[in-house]
Amino acid sequence: MTEQFDLSGRVALVTGGGRGIGHAIAIGLANAGAAVVPSARSTDEIESVADEIKADGGDAFPVSADVTNSGDVKSVIDRAKDEFGSIDIVVNNAGINPDNTLGQPEDVSSESFDRVLDVNLNGAYEVTRTAASELHETDGGSVINVASIGGLVGLPRQHPYVASKHGLVGLTKSISLDWSPEVRVNAIAPGYVSTELTEDLEGNKRLRQSIINRTPMDRFAEPEEIAGPTVFLASDAASYVTGAVLEVDGGWTAR
Ligand SMILES: NC(=O)c1ccc[n+]([C@@H]2O[C@H](COP(=O)([O-])OP(=O)(O)OC[C@H]3O[C@@H](n4cnc5c(N)ncnc54)[C@H](OP(=O)(O)O)[C@@H]3O)[C@@H](O)[C@H]2O)c1
Repeated sequence: MTEQFDLSGRVALVTGGGRGIGHAIAIGLANAGAAVVPSARSTDEIESVADEIKADGGDAFPVSADVTNSGDVKSVIDRAKDEFGSIDIVVNNAGINPDNTLGQPEDVSSESFDRVLDVNLNGAYEVTRTAASELHETDGGSVINVASIGGLVGLPRQHPYVASKHGLVGLTKSISLDWSPEVRVNAIAPGYVSTELTEDLEGNKRLRQSIINRTPMDRFAEPEEIAGPTVFLASDAASYVTGAVLEVDGGWTAR
């Protein structure tokens, strides 16, 4: 049975693979046997993730890229292919939810709104379509989009983020139809996970407690808890799963 989860011989690109959830996913995929290309704008973090994978006997090749820059996106796909010969798994994890987009619609500038859409939705779209031929050339190509509970329901004072994640869920479902049966396309919808993105939230005692009270599992997730579901979706264990959104939210959306 464990063979079904084995990713040996596969190559995985993880955007936003330098820290937080992307870091945990990169390590998880490497532990399952994949060669990993962690990518983000800053180089220090992706290099350190690659070092961690190599120190554990795995294969990794960090490539710096901004998902909002189509030249960068092409370059990361080309370099990953040159280094490892194929791209079998794409994890669109890069994402932002900056302070200047938290608020009422009338208080958020259209530039700030666009920036969130550019990274969280257009970035994932650009990476996916640029990797299309590599994903189709290989056996068992798989795309995993890291959405959010905000891709399934509305969240107050986060309309740009929620719009971007709803878009990502729509993209997941539509492309899964276009690319089936050759390439599977799925999404993960995490709830609240302890990372730099949620640092301020967790630092606010009242807010943190209200989130915990609303979450059946009574806590935030650790980034590593998003890795297992990603390995599952990337692997042959999920060979009949496409167009799905897997909630990894401690029961948040079940309520
Ligand atoms: N934490 C949560 O509670 C939670 C819940 C649901 C969903 N998510 C989603 O999970 C994903 C990861 O979130 P996280 O919490 O791990 O956040 P994080 O700790 O802030 O990490 C975000 C990663 O994305 C990269 N990134 C940001 N902008 C980028 C760009 N333009 N191009 C390429 N890479 C970029 C960052 O690196 P650089 O800044 O160096 O580029 C970093 O590696 C996001 O899509 C987020 O929406 C998070």
